[in-house]
Parts: sequence; C-alpha cells; structure tokens
Amino acid sequence: MPAKSSAVHDSKGGESPLKILFVVSECAPYAKTGGLADVAAALPAALQKLGHDVRIVMPLYDCIDRNRHGIRPDGAACVHMGNGEEQWVGVHNSLLGGKTPVWLVECHRFFGRPGIYDELWGEYGDNAFRYALLSKAALQICKDRKFIPDVMHAHDWQSALVPVFLKTWDRILSPLSDTASVLTIHNIGHQGVYHSSVFPYIGVGDEHFTQVKFEDHGKINLLKGGIFFADAITTVSPTHAREIFEPIGGHGLAPRLQARRDDVTGILNGVCYDRWNPETDSLIPVKYSAKNLAGKWVCKMALQERFGLETRLDTPIFGVVSRLAPQKGLHLLKEVLPRIMDQMNAQVVVLGSGDSGMEDFFRWAPSAYPGRVGSFIGFWEDLSHLIEAGSDFFVMPSLYEPCGLNQMYSMKYGTLPVVRATGGLNDSVQNYDEATGAGTGFKFWDPTPDALYYTIGWAVSTWHDRPQHMSQLRQQAMAQDYSWRDSAQRYLDVYRHAIWRHSQWR
Ligand code: ADP
Ligand code: GLC
Repeated sequence: MPAKSSAVHDSKGGESPLKILFVVSECAPYAKTGGLADVAAALPAALQKLGHDVRIVMPLYDCIDRNRHGIRPDGAACVHMGNGEEQWVGVHNSLLGGKTPVWLVECHRFFGRPGIYDELWGEYGDNAFRYALLSKAALQICKDRKFIPDVMHAHDWQSALVPVFLKTWDRILSPLSDTASVLTIHNIGHQGVYHSSVFPYIGVGDEHFTQVKFEDHGKINLLKGGIFFADAITTVSPTHAREIFEPIGGHGLAPRLQARRDDVTGILNGVCYDRWNPETDSLIPVKYSAKNLAGKWVCKMALQERFGLETRLDTPIFGVVSRLAPQKGLHLLKEVLPRIMDQMNAQVVVLGSGDSGMEDFFRWAPSAYPGRVGSFIGFWEDLSHLIEAGSDFFVMPSLYEPCGLNQMYSMKYGTLPVVRATGGLNDSVQNYDEATGAGTGFKFWDPTPDALYYTIGWAVSTWHDRPQHMSQLRQQAMAQDYSWRDSAQRYLDVYRHAIWRHSQWR
C-alpha cells in the first residue's frame, strides 16, 4: 500500500471509530477447519478493543452447537439472487467472547449439512452457490438492520463476492453505496473456481465475465472477481504479500494482483494469547512460564504417555499439528521419517487430517516405530494444545504458508519451530545462530526432503550438544509478542485506505 493512502483520509479519516462487518465462512469457536477461523475471531476482538464497532456474519452450519454458544433466533432475511430467486434465510445471533455480535445465517438447503466445505467423499458441489448466498445475505442483513458499515471485510474466495456485490448491486439506490470493501487472501491456493453456469445465480452481469474480472480458462474464479472489485486487498504476512506477485506464489493470479499493486498490503496475523498461553491454558495438564519451565516437562511426559511413546525427558519430541494438505509439505516429513528414526535419537508426534494417503501413512507410522512415533488422525483442539506444550520442536515444512499460526503458538510455549522459510514462517521465525545462540527456531529454504532432514538433524544436535543454547532459544522464543494489537492497527490503516479508494470509484 502506498504511503499516500494512510495520509489521504476522507471524512472517516483520523481517529473516528469505524463500523466494520466481517463476512467469513468459519470463525472459532463456532466452526473451524484452520487458521482463518482463529483470525476471524481474534481480529474483530482486537479492533473492538481499539474502540471500533465490529460485527460478524457467518453460516449457521449444522455442526455448530447452538446451546453451547447461546445462539438465538433473530428474525429472517429475504435474499435476492441474480436468477430472480428469492431465498429466505433465518438470522440468528450470538455474542462471540461475550463481546462481538455475530449474525449466523441459517439456510437448510445450503448449510444444513454435517460438513463445512466437504464430507468424506469430497467437496460439496454447490459451494459456489452456498457462499454466494452467504455474501449476499450479509449485505441484506446490514440493509434490513440498518447497520451500515464503513467497511465490509471479506475473507478468501468464500466471501470474495462481497466486494463485487457492493460495487455492482443497486449501487445508487443501496444504502450501502458508501461502504468500502477489503478482501483478505488467507490462502491463494483456493480460489473458488467453478463452472460458469453459476454466474446467473450470482447475478453479476455477463459484461463482468472477462479475463480481468471473473473469467478463468472458461470458468468463473470468485477470488479473481473479488480482487478486481475490492477497494483494498491484504494477505497475512509481508513476505507472502511479495510472493503473490510472482508466478508460483500467485497461483495464476499474479497479473491481477500486480494490477492492484498499490492496494495490496501484507499484515502478519497475531496470536490470541487468551487462548494460547502456557501460563493460563486450561487445556494442558500443568501451566508454566518462561521463568519456571517445570510444568513443560510434565506436559512433555503427559504427551508421551498420551501417544504411547517412551516417557523420557532426554529425547527431543518433534510435534506436528496440521491439515494434511499438499501445501503443508508433510510429504517431506513422510519421506525422511525412516531416516530420522534410523539416525537420530528423537520422537515424532503428528495430529492432523486431510489427504487420505497422508492420513494412512501417519496412522501406520506408530506401528512401524513403536514408542517413538505417535499420531492421531482427526481434528482435536485439546490435543493440539498438549502438543504445543509438550513438544520440544514444532515442524512446519510448508511449500507455501501465507502466515501460519502454529509457529507463533509454539514459540509462546517454548517449543522451537522448525520451518521452511516461506511466507509468514519466514517473517515470524528468526533462524538460530550457532555462534551466539540468537534466534527463535530453525529455518530451511529448499523444499526438499534433504533440507528438512538436515534441519531436523541440526535441531537434534543442538538439543543434545548445546543445551545452554536450547535454554537461550526457548527464552527468546517465549519472549516474542505477536499479540493482535499491532496488526489490528495496521488493518485500520488499510480500512482507511479502502474508504479513500472507494471514494475514487467511478
Ligand atoms: P491453515 O489455516 O493453513 O490450516 P494455520 O497455521 O494458520 O494453518 O492454522 C491452523 C489452525 O488449525 C491452528 O489453530 C491449528 O492448531 C489448527 N489445526 C490444524 N489441524 C488441526 C487438528 N488436526 N486438530 C486441531 N487443530 C488443528
Ligand atoms: C490460511 C493459511 C495460513 C494462515 C491462515 C490464517 O489458511 O494457509 O498460513 O495462517 O489462513 O490467515
């Protein structure tokens, strides 16, 4: 984002509080498949603390526990889709963390299913319709309830139509004509590419089915449309904001992002230390702090017991908590695991789900290396906290990682990240300097099994041969502060830029 934008403010410039609406497909603790849900919960709370009026719209999936989250019916909305269809939806409300108002959109046809995006057999075939409805419902709810945001903040392809609707839908008549939009790209590897027959339902004129807007090799690309229409675009780390301008990092969208270069910003995600802090974490057996790590060793033994590993404090544990998706590079770990087991005195624990081949491998590995490798295939929040607390190292060999949250959680728990230097992993982890003991983790650059193998070997030898550096690294990692406050301030600059950009729109 150019320097001018933060200086050029309209009537909503300066310090005046903003009204902001988040439109998201997942938000913790209601529904979560990955880091987007964590961000969608924590950033609104941080913005609220800075004095802004923030609300959230998301789907009311069947998997959401209405009683547990105090979700109450709150009327209905009639959503007009492009093909003339009128879809009535139920609107429910809840208070996230007791503070942030959330509207949950109930639509049995689209959200009344066990999964969020998919089920065991694969992705829902009508996802484009489902999230087009969510995006339009968000606008309708604002209109009906006379909550006119200064900024609507869309996230990933699922709500990328929000900026599109704001610019193309009843623009003159709509009370939302002054609402600016920001689109955050959390994962450019998923763009929402569907058959063009979705276009009439979305209801954006055929004139927008062009190579610079929606068209993608004859199909419709929702993220691409959002990139064209959003007033400002962000992604979730400064390094990734550079990567997406390159052919590989842009996953086909680099030219479209280059065309918006002045409106693209990278802001590192933060950590919600209310939930991820070993001093207060109620999901781990014993709490601990940087001053007194005794509890960490109890957590380590609890982790070993939980996964049937040999309970010994003299062996380093490498933890993994991850979606088992190609992006995460865990095929590299799969490839080097036999060599690690053969050559190194180390244990490995994996919690994850996703790709069936990877699931099968990590389900099998504990039987091949009894007492040394443990795994749980599935999604289990409580266990993820135990792994953060009980491990010595945390492995993230991602091929690309827009931000990544677990490396930042790990540092707070005194668990040193072993990461490939990409995206937010590069920005948040400082490589170990063997001469001085400086650093917060271990980095490698090449996305190859050898690079991962030698970096894990480096971590193991540091553990065994330089214990004083291990202590120093732990202390340095635990002292890192990635709280949301600073990132929220940077989002406010982006919101103000978007408002200014929107005022220029013809
Ligand atoms: P991504 O969003 O690409 O999956 P992030 O590192 O940003 O990656 O966030 C992942 C989030 O999902 C973290 O909060 C992590 O702890 C959580 N997570 C991933 N897989 C699991 C799992 N199997 N069980 C519990 N939590 C998981
Ligand atoms: C995405 C990215 C991850 C990021 C998360 C939250 O899923 O893969 O790197 O941390 O979104 O922004």
